[in-house]
Amino acid sequence: MNKVDVIIIGASASGLMCAIEAAKRGREVLILDHANKAGKKILMSGGGRCNFTNYDVTSKNYISHNSHFVKSALSRFTQWDFIAMVESYKIPYHEREHGQLFCNDSSKDILNLLLNECKKANVKIQLNTEIINIDPQSDLQSNHHFIIKSNNDDYHCLSLVIATGGLSIPKMGASPFGYKVAEQFNIKVWPTSAGLVPFTLHKQDKETLSELSGIAIDSLVSSKNMSFRENILFTHRGLSGPAILQISSYWSAGEAIKINLLPNIDLLEYLTAAAKKQPQIKLKTLLYKLLPKRLINVFIKAETLDKTLQEISYKQFQHVTSQLQSWSFKPNGTEGYRTAEVTIGGVDCDALSSKTFESKTVAGLYFIGEVMDISGWLGGYNFQWSWSSGWCAGQYV
Ligand code: FDA
Repeated sequence: MNKVDVIIIGASASGLMCAIEAAKRGREVLILDHANKAGKKILMSGGGRCNFTNYDVTSKNYISHNSHFVKSALSRFTQWDFIAMVESYKIPYHEREHGQLFCNDSSKDILNLLLNECKKANVKIQLNTEIINIDPQSDLQSNHHFIIKSNNDDYHCLSLVIATGGLSIPKMGASPFGYKVAEQFNIKVWPTSAGLVPFTLHKQDKETLSELSGIAIDSLVSSKNMSFRENILFTHRGLSGPAILQISSYWSAGEAIKINLLPNIDLLEYLTAAAKKQPQIKLKTLLYKLLPKRLINVFIKAETLDKTLQEISYKQFQHVTSQLQSWSFKPNGTEGYRTAEVTIGGVDCDALSSKTFESKTVAGLYFIGEVMDISGWLGGYNFQWSWSSGWCAGQYV
């Protein structure tokens, strides 16, 4: 049997970071992963340029049943710490809107950084390894240890770290493994759902909106008490774009989404003022200046568009305003884990120490990264959580 101090299951963002830190402390670390390549999600992230963190990271950027849990780890390993690592490797990067940091060249730069640090610290990474069984044991000297049976070999470790991520993109190796381990040890798992994911539409909405495919518009998108101001994108399948992905993480089935397609102006005021100044002008002439013609033609009836402003009643102006500034629709659903960037829900934070990430009930068992009930906003927050949680656990495993 192969004996090591620490086994980490999952060779991606959180697992690699944890391994580096633990190995730097002199722990013997082995990472096991069923995939044929480490860090597949890092490679595909940020459209191939990995949005590796954000200049502005706070607990408000995360969704969890325990909203305070992230604070400790985010303050011990910050975005500045990760940026320092990136700079020490001279990886060129740039800032996009909302403080998002992306590689100039390729996500490979980030994965190579992590793999190189693993190599320097003597971390062993074993790929193509299916875990068959985890068997907790107790012995007199260490009090606890785990025996891990795999398709390759059996392993023995003192600390076991679950870094197997969430359910999004099964093609990339995502699996419910981490949740099953939690359940095996009677650790609570919050129900999971797809987050940062496009919406699909009901048949009728799809028919009317499909002709808008390709149009992107700066909008204010709201659901319950949360709003995001960014682009929305009409697609042939439904609605996507950053504002939609963000709000999808807060959406529950059956709820309506409200969209203001003209968040910069008070449209009612604009229309009534225009009616006084240019009563002869047609409504369509005015609206085509504000939004794409194709979109206006779908949202506002042709007979109204053809009227001059003086022919339109105040009530009709109110209706036009409501169509464009309080458009409300009920998504049919989401595209699901096939395209989702994250998984909402997961291993209950209250069951883990926010300092060490060790289970409060099973000594030696740790959970880090996306497998936990923590999901970040779009914008580099999910990787920052992987770096922070992995780094912190790495100090204790
Ligand atoms: P992650 O999912 O990365 O890794 C889990 C590892 O465990 C994988 O290597 C997997 O093979 C392995 N594994 C799973 N089940 C196993 C099993 N049964 N046995 C053995 N091994 C198993 N975030 C961000 O901040 N910026 C961005 O730009 C993007 N972009 C992005 C694009 C796309 C398309 C997706 C899907 C996601 C993103 N994300 C993102 C989210 C980000 O990728 C994600 O939050 C982190 O990769 C999570 O890191 P983890 O290490 O927790 O899990």
